[in-house]
Amino acid sequence: MDGEAKGEETLKVAVVGATGVVGQEMLQLLETSPLGAEAPHLLASSRSAGQKVAWRGEELTVLPLDENADLGGLDVFLLAAGSKTARQWAPRFVAAGAVVVDNSSAFRLVDEIPLVVPEVNPEMIPIGPGIIANPNCSTIILLLALKPLWNLKPKRIIADTYQAVSGAGRSGLDALEREGSGGEFRVGDPFPFPIAGNLFPSIGTVDDEGVTLEERKMLDETRKILSAPDIVVQGTCVRVPVARCHSIALNLLFDESDPTRLDQAIELLREAPGIQFHEDPESPPTPGPLAGVHSVSVGRVRAPFDDSLQLWVVGDQILKGAALNTVQIAELWSAKN
Ligand SMILES: NC(=O)c1ccc[n+]([C@@H]2O[C@H](COP(=O)([O-])OP(=O)(O)OC[C@H]3O[C@@H](n4cnc5c(N)ncnc54)[C@H](OP(=O)(O)O)[C@@H]3O)[C@@H](O)[C@H]2O)c1
Repeated sequence: MDGEAKGEETLKVAVVGATGVVGQEMLQLLETSPLGAEAPHLLASSRSAGQKVAWRGEELTVLPLDENADLGGLDVFLLAAGSKTARQWAPRFVAAGAVVVDNSSAFRLVDEIPLVVPEVNPEMIPIGPGIIANPNCSTIILLLALKPLWNLKPKRIIADTYQAVSGAGRSGLDALEREGSGGEFRVGDPFPFPIAGNLFPSIGTVDDEGVTLEERKMLDETRKILSAPDIVVQGTCVRVPVARCHSIALNLLFDESDPTRLDQAIELLREAPGIQFHEDPESPPTPGPLAGVHSVSVGRVRAPFDDSLQLWVVGDQILKGAALNTVQIAELWSAKN
């Protein structure tokens, strides 16, 4: 590809990390996407080379991403293979004229690389080849609920997360399944603690201020996406024994008291793109039934104090937190190019 507008030409798409939990969802989404006009190229590590994957009734073969991989003529790379692979390969794909949408944290905070949630900052999607970063899964789910309320001018955001094991990929799901059926706990496979019947209030390394990597990502990425370098986002990110879907207990704090703010917030959330608003406070959204759902659910919206708003937010972090957001970005890029 030469980086010029593709017009009606069919784009050739590759999924890197096609055997992982995010990659598998991307493939399903491509079955009904305009980007799936042609069968995607499937790439993973040499461990899964030769694996067969069903796609629209065809059988596709997973190829290894290595120096011998034939990458010619590919226009769009959807990456879900971790930061190391992204750092090594994304610049090469771009140099060959492609656009890369990457799910890892490798490029999210690089100034010149757009970090995009289509419902929030679609204008950041570039023309031509380049890297576009997909934000952290909890950040995306937070921002779907926060964006409609942004004009109410919250001053401080407290977001406590309840994060599913599949956020750690296939091995996280395996650990919950194994321990849940009486199997042993294995340190670091992938969690440093037993997860069945347990929870753990620390996701990722802890920095000098006692803040975890996951908590830091939510702060830094929210600031970048909203162009709000001073907004405070704080909270505790907790790993819980749920297979899929992250939940967030969200508190917004305001400078001023305003008894009308709750009604305004409910109206805004009812109309917000990508949000399913749950009216009944006694029937809030829960992670189990929301696996596979594209929208982010918001319920239990309340304001027991006039200077704050409280919400409960649940989203499928493999879909809207990763694969769906990535495919949406790629579709918008394709429409623009
Ligand atoms: N899971 C989530 O909820 C979630 C949410 C947001 C973002 N993400 C991000 O998405 C990415 C993928 O996560 P995941 O949960 O799908 O992980 P996963 O289930 O562990 O899958 C990882 C994928 O990457 C491939 N891979 C690993 N090393 C590779 C290499 N050297 N070259 C090519 N492919 C390689 C694996 O292939 P093999 O099968 O050959 O090992 C597998 O297909 C990560 O960057 C993660 O941080 C995940």
